[in-house]
Amino acid sequence: MDQNTGYAEAYAAWQSNPEAWWAKAAEGLDWAKRWDRVFDPSLGAFGQWFASGEISICHNALDRHVDAGHGDRRALIWDSPAAGAQRVLTYRELRDHTAKLAGALVARGIGRGDRVVIYMPMVPEAVMAMLACARIGAIHSVVFGGFAAPELAKRIEDAQPRAVISASCGIEPGRLVAYKPLLDEAISLSAHKPECCLILQRPMLAAEMVADRDYDLLGAMEAAAPHGCVPVAATDPLYILYTSGTTGKPKGVVRDCGGYAVALHNSMSMIYGIKPEDTYWCASDVGWVVGHSYIVYAPLLLGCTTVMYEGKPVGTPDAGAFWRVCAEHKVRVLFTAPTALRAIRQRDPELSFLAQYDLSSLDALYLAGERCDPPTAIWAAEHLGKPVVDHWWQTETGWPITAGFRGYGLFPVKPGSGGRAGPGYDVQALDDAGLPLPRGQSGNLSIKLPLPPGCAPTLWGSDDHYRRSYLADFPGWYRTGDAGEVDLDGDVWIMGRTDDLINVAGHRLSTGQMEEILSGHPAVAECAVIGAADSLKGQTPLGFVVLKAGVERSHSEIVSELVALMRNTLGPVAAFKDALVVNRLPKTRSGKILRASIRRLADGQDANPPPTIDDVAALDDISAALGGK
Ligand code: COA
Ligand code: AMP
Repeated sequence: MDQNTGYAEAYAAWQSNPEAWWAKAAEGLDWAKRWDRVFDPSLGAFGQWFASGEISICHNALDRHVDAGHGDRRALIWDSPAAGAQRVLTYRELRDHTAKLAGALVARGIGRGDRVVIYMPMVPEAVMAMLACARIGAIHSVVFGGFAAPELAKRIEDAQPRAVISASCGIEPGRLVAYKPLLDEAISLSAHKPECCLILQRPMLAAEMVADRDYDLLGAMEAAAPHGCVPVAATDPLYILYTSGTTGKPKGVVRDCGGYAVALHNSMSMIYGIKPEDTYWCASDVGWVVGHSYIVYAPLLLGCTTVMYEGKPVGTPDAGAFWRVCAEHKVRVLFTAPTALRAIRQRDPELSFLAQYDLSSLDALYLAGERCDPPTAIWAAEHLGKPVVDHWWQTETGWPITAGFRGYGLFPVKPGSGGRAGPGYDVQALDDAGLPLPRGQSGNLSIKLPLPPGCAPTLWGSDDHYRRSYLADFPGWYRTGDAGEVDLDGDVWIMGRTDDLINVAGHRLSTGQMEEILSGHPAVAECAVIGAADSLKGQTPLGFVVLKAGVERSHSEIVSELVALMRNTLGPVAAFKDALVVNRLPKTRSGKILRASIRRLADGQDANPPPTIDDVAALDDISAALGGK
């Protein structure tokens, strides 16, 4: 088949009748009640998919496969160099454990619409916890383990969970991360108190339990009666996933059940070209959207085998770890973040570890989370001898906006580009007035409404916040917050954010939030945080602080306090390691801090200050501080 044909035909078919296209995709799933109308534009912030339908995503991810005679197929391979352990769960086993965990929740009065916060490391029980919530119609909210207690507290306060499922510890290189004390601190900080906590006691660290609130997770599962699947409205929330917004308050991105199931199930064959007999590995964390969609829901909805990896690309034990996992479990498609590739490249530039492993089962490497710099993409493709596909998406969309389509033969993609818009997405660059720009011109990357199934229908608790955040700027369009262009071939190039979000090792963080935290230090008068280019993590945060008049303390002591403050308030995931003390910050005449100019200086470029700056000397001050680093 000509490379373009399959993709072009599918895209044209979707364009000519989007509802028929998605209705056909929805046929691949079991519905408790079929929808009357595929898309109802009168509902929600921009319309809703499969509104009158009813579905159980847990049934479709587990029971459906067991019922079809695939109970002995491997559902989940847990590979943990961190714990020195592996575990394989068949579809039947994963269903049975999930049913027990669902029973344990129901025994504690948890049911449809109740929220459950999941704060767990990369262990199979995290997958069971998510699916158990889905099984009974409860709404899960997974919080990434690298966040500090105050961040967890914010999420508990906003989601108001009746229960929390957590573990005694996570394992990071060289240290155990005691999760339970962080959870206890978060609960004491939060005005909302969950009624119960189910705690997985890992063998390497026992957590202290609070009487009448904390229960042993495995004990509770053992004692519980298995619970069946409860179908819910297709538009019911499946989960809330908090992500960085531009302020200190994270955005609670809501995912529905029906549209999400349809989009993810379809994407496994359309984008990744995966079949039920394949093994698929998304090397991310369940705390991120990538983990929700492609460690848990999408592979299980398809009925293939998913790999859950508790380890790092390097150091657990070496830079061959990814190739070991691919060879050992016969991974067909690997999906990771460019940062992981850069980490491997730094340690093993010639990929000498490859010689130890048989990678014949691996067909392609997919990347997302941040833009993959072309040298890294080219290096990986050449050394692996496999197609490398960068694809672009966001927590809000839940699945890729653009990609290379292994299922349609249209892959790999041009190095540096995110590939083409998938069926479901009409992506265009808009000018600041919201008018589409000709192809080849850079602007605000936006998606024509309606968003396809699977994309967030709202933010937790507020359609209005959703409209203001994404829909208000360009009527009729969803504003992605990314800048870039669609080239003459239709390939999309994502060049950076138009707001103050930065991307650190594939993790989305808000510099505005970091500035709020630094401003809380008693010695700081004002500050700016920028994302400086980093050869490993893409970007790392760098703070610039002006001290209050009369503060005479040593600068290095203050900087150490600022680093500790960030770690204890936002978390180690911020990777905030440095701040520079300066006399003043460069500002426009209206008082806006020139973060873009500071960033350019930090990256070794010309500051390129706008004409609205009076105080050019402030930029010299920044340069001098950077020079002394
Ligand atoms: N629980 C607790 N702490 C965590 C954590 C977790 N789940 N995940 C990360 N951390 C900590 C790390 O230990 C590190 O702490 P340190 O400052 O004490 O070293 C800090 O958070 C920063 O972590 P990270 O950014 O992951 O850096 P790293 O140096 O530990 O590892 C890489 C570097 C490249 C190996 C790592 O960033 C990586 O694998 N990136 C891939 C990113 C990814 O999967 N993104 C998902 C979107 S697709
Ligand atoms: P998150 O919501 O954490 O998934 O982060 C989403 C943001 O990460 C996007 O808005 C982009 O800025 C960036 N991003 C994700 N994937 C890519 C990609 N393939 N290329 C460029 N940027 C990306």
